[in-house]
Amino acid sequence: MVNRPRRLRLNQNIRALTRETRISTNSLILPIFLQEGNNIKRPISSLEGHFHYSPDRVSEEIEKALKAGINKFLLFGLPAEKDIIGSQGYDENGIIQQGIRKMKENYKDEIYIITDVCMCEYTSHGHCGILDSNYVDNDKTLDYLSKIAVSHAMAGADMVAPSDMMDGRIGRIRKDLDAHNLINIGIMSYAVKYASSFYEPFREAAGSTPSFGDRKSYQMDYHNRREAVKEARLDIDEGADIIMIKPALSYLDIIHEVSQLSNLPTAAYSVSGEYAMIKAAAKMGIIDEYKIMCESAVSVFRAGANILITYFAKELAESIRRGDIG
Ligand code: PBG
Repeated sequence: MVNRPRRLRLNQNIRALTRETRISTNSLILPIFLQEGNNIKRPISSLEGHFHYSPDRVSEEIEKALKAGINKFLLFGLPAEKDIIGSQGYDENGIIQQGIRKMKENYKDEIYIITDVCMCEYTSHGHCGILDSNYVDNDKTLDYLSKIAVSHAMAGADMVAPSDMMDGRIGRIRKDLDAHNLINIGIMSYAVKYASSFYEPFREAAGSTPSFGDRKSYQMDYHNRREAVKEARLDIDEGADIIMIKPALSYLDIIHEVSQLSNLPTAAYSVSGEYAMIKAAAKMGIIDEYKIMCESAVSVFRAGANILITYFAKELAESIRRGDIG
């Protein structure tokens, strides 16, 4: 026998030397939930270990993250008031705008802030846009998404991440950011976002469950792969800086395919349901939380992602530091 693949698996040193997938703490983004009010640190029951923070207390989370080596954040907001047009989403004193200013005041460029741009947390009906009877009106919604994105950037966000899945929003947001001279504000597009039941724990966390119907007329059907290529191509052409795929674990084929499409960085969002399943199974004593967390995260990078948004960001940073992965 000439070929003995087991030679390269003989011990930890040779395995570490020949790992094909390298992961850095620099590639991880931690989601943070901001809630309007003061002195709030409220546990999110569906996302164990995560909290709603009011802007005055969010530093507690940032400190922990920075200590672990994580300095990139994706912000979600829970406003005090909702209405049919989600006006708190673009209010200059909205929860995200307040939160960004506070975080940038305390940490300046030590942290990188990406904001989720969507309407579902701000609308009384919980849909991601402006309704025309029961249908989300695409083109009217673009006006609002663009206002939200510009207001986040004006408050100091480094990058905006539209997650609504309206057609044409990347082009529109790019145009309006540029018109406000916000030319260096990047766009990470939720380019390929499926209508997924893996978001359920998030909807509890963000209070964004639609009051009627579902999101299938704008988010993608999970039977489709070629459509993912179409969506990604459109966003690349419209000026996205980073292409994101969401969810991650059940969509590794999509991550692989989309990562081959262009030279743009490919991000994957390991969503709330993926996190909650691991936590729940570990609590039942049927899996090892740490090992499953490591294995799932590596699989996303192996598939082709360069960036991972994950509720396990701090814990993964520790496993990278220990050399268990990466
Ligand atoms: C907002 C948005 C959602 C998520 C990110 N941005 C919810 C949804 O589309 O229903 C899900 C994140 C997660 O599940 O972790 N539109």
